[in-house]
Amino acid sequence: MAKVAFLGLGVMGYPMAGHLKAAGHEVTVYNRTAAKAENWVAQHGGSWAATPREAVAGCDFVMACVGNDDDLRAVVQGDDGAFAGMGAGATFVDHTTVSAIVTRELAALGAEAGIGWVDAPVSGGQAGAENGQLAIMCGGAEAAFTAALPVMEVYAKAVEHFGPVGAGQITKMVNQVCIAGAVQSISEGLWFAMQAGLDAKKVAKLVSQGAGGSWQLANRAETMVDNQFDHGFAVNWMRKDLGIALEQGKEMGLSLPVTALVDQFYGEVQQLGGGRWDTSSLIQRFRKMNGEDL
Ligand SMILES: NC(=O)c1ccc[n+]([C@@H]2O[C@H](COP(=O)([O-])OP(=O)(O)OC[C@H]3O[C@@H](n4cnc5c(N)ncnc54)[C@H](OP(=O)(O)O)[C@@H]3O)[C@@H](O)[C@H]2O)c1
Repeated sequence: MAKVAFLGLGVMGYPMAGHLKAAGHEVTVYNRTAAKAENWVAQHGGSWAATPREAVAGCDFVMACVGNDDDLRAVVQGDDGAFAGMGAGATFVDHTTVSAIVTRELAALGAEAGIGWVDAPVSGGQAGAENGQLAIMCGGAEAAFTAALPVMEVYAKAVEHFGPVGAGQITKMVNQVCIAGAVQSISEGLWFAMQAGLDAKKVAKLVSQGAGGSWQLANRAETMVDNQFDHGFAVNWMRKDLGIALEQGKEMGLSLPVTALVDQFYGEVQQLGGGRWDTSSLIQRFRKMNGEDL
């Protein structure tokens, strides 16, 4: 069993750290809002620390799941950051969804101190974190990935290594690009069905069995028809992720037209007050255009 620190006890990090403790690892947690760290220790045991630097002392692995690029920098760098407390030979595993740019920058900084880096963004949402069923997309040196794999497997149903530092984050961008187009198509399809006077749930159930089927259609159509958007992964997070993907595409000289369009549509959903609705709320644009109360 390893000595592990977990930085960031949000919707995702709190249950992920809990799985590590339940598996028998020695876990110290850090959270910016200390009350959450105290609750976590009361629930799971282990210990908590007031700063990332204190939390990571003597650890083999440091896992993080915070918000965006700036938040990751805040827990890694500086006098109280994780790198100030990690020893050579330790591995930093970043589960936050961030840009490949910040990933490469921080990994290079860690390498100067002999610290390994695995970028390991996750997919599967709150339910996946709670049930220990996440899909984890990794980048980093082979040795760092191999060392971290048994620790990550505690909360994963699938873990893959895609290449050097940054490859995990780019894979997550692919994931978000695929989701954006799929959710917009399903929104159009369900709206089409409703306007044609069909039973849209019945339509979705049948279409799901054929070539038009997808995870999004099978798992989100009913609640989209019922006007319910509380599945966890928020529009605000999705805009962050699509922004990262569009920037990466620009750097590579690629055009991602559907992603750019759907990003704008999510911007409209934010203006409707839906920043915290889940990503299937794209259908609300149609309801709004139709003059319906949301
Ligand atoms: N939620 C999902 O379904 C989902 C799915 C896949 C991927 N993700 C990604 O996973 C990451 C975390 O998502 P989440 O839903 O768990 O977010 P969340 O509930 O908002 O939690 C964010 C965590 O990061 C901490 N944090 C934020 N900024 C910080 C800073 N500057 N310094 C120190 N700590 C900071 C927060 O501390 P406080 O408690 O003090 O605010 C909190 O513990 C994001 O990158 C998100 O895109 C989320």
